[in-house]
Amino acid sequence: MTHRIAVLPGDGVGPEVVVEARRVVDALGLGVEWTELPWGSAWYHEHGAMMPEDALDVLSAHDAVLMGAIGDPTVPDHVTLWGSILAIRQRLDLWANVRPARLLPGVPCPLVGRGPEHVDMLFVRENTEGEYAGVGGRSHRGLASEVALETSVFTRSGVERVVRYAFGLAAGRRAILTSATKSNASRFGYVLWDEVVEEVAAEFPGVRVERVLVDALAARMVRDPAGLDVVVASNLFGDVLTDLAAAIQGGMGMAASANVAPGAVGLFEPVHGSAPDIAGHGVANPCGAIWSAALMLEHLGEAEAAARVIDALEAVCREGPRTRDIGGDAGTGEVGAAVAARLVA
Ligand code: NAI
Ligand code: MG
Repeated sequence: MTHRIAVLPGDGVGPEVVVEARRVVDALGLGVEWTELPWGSAWYHEHGAMMPEDALDVLSAHDAVLMGAIGDPTVPDHVTLWGSILAIRQRLDLWANVRPARLLPGVPCPLVGRGPEHVDMLFVRENTEGEYAGVGGRSHRGLASEVALETSVFTRSGVERVVRYAFGLAAGRRAILTSATKSNASRFGYVLWDEVVEEVAAEFPGVRVERVLVDALAARMVRDPAGLDVVVASNLFGDVLTDLAAAIQGGMGMAASANVAPGAVGLFEPVHGSAPDIAGHGVANPCGAIWSAALMLEHLGEAEAAARVIDALEAVCREGPRTRDIGGDAGTGEVGAAVAARLVA
């Protein structure tokens, strides 16, 4: 069976890491057909929009989307994000953003005395509403009285589906679900969030659930990551916590993500952005992109191929070559080639 994959390399290091992810998938010899889409900041400068009008139809006509990162210093970030990834997540209703934060052997951990046995967390971020619902407005522009309102939107159905999904994942792992909340200060959205977590918990008697205030949770991730299994969080909290999680698993270059919803075309992307500070130098770490491709294969029903990619990735992290952000001196292409070589052999 052929898998038709739409590829959105994007800007900056996006294309540099995506080409390595493709090389790794191609090495598996599965039937994969890639359609490269040139959307992003250059497209914006030419067409006045980040993507064409029929972009969502084009993406939906594929089996999955593999993305690099979009963002460039010449375009305001809110224009970029709302013209691309946020619009895609919301309009394709990809309501779960799943981000494994596992420290692979060989990758240095910034936490003193912690190793791979201490860091194996899985974050499930609500991906379509909450603080990034896109609801709000501005008035009295330029006046001293200028107002900006950013409204968080929490719906019972929206919270319930992502919380239930996270419980399901926890049930298949170490059976601990930590819910990130802030219901002491936010009296509405997070109180509803907590109530839904408690209700859904009744369906999963085998999973131990704990409610932790997000600030305390950030501290706990640093102090005792081993105590965390699956973490479910709102859009904003998940965004912030997963950059911290990425740092704990060796840096932005390591972190992978899957934007998914049952029945929808999933979008898979490294957590990092376009990294304009290192773009063009061939030093970006492709591991997060390769790991994202493995998540994509799993989602496409290629569990065995996905496991082979993860095994190869682990072997390369353990034995090298590694990029400089994780203590090596190899270039992006050397790492991609090394992972691919282990799949062919
Ligand atoms: P960033 O993730 O691009 O970079 C943060 C830091 O991590 C930088 O020091 C960078 O060099 C490093 N880094 C990132 N990826 C790396 C890799 N693969 N290997 C080694 N080091 C890596 O975040 P930043 O600088 O805040 O954003 C840059 C641009 O990317 C902005 O325009 C932003 O809006 C956009 N962005 C896009 C995202 C997306 O497309 N999903 C996600 C996050 C940011
Ligand atoms: Mg982020």
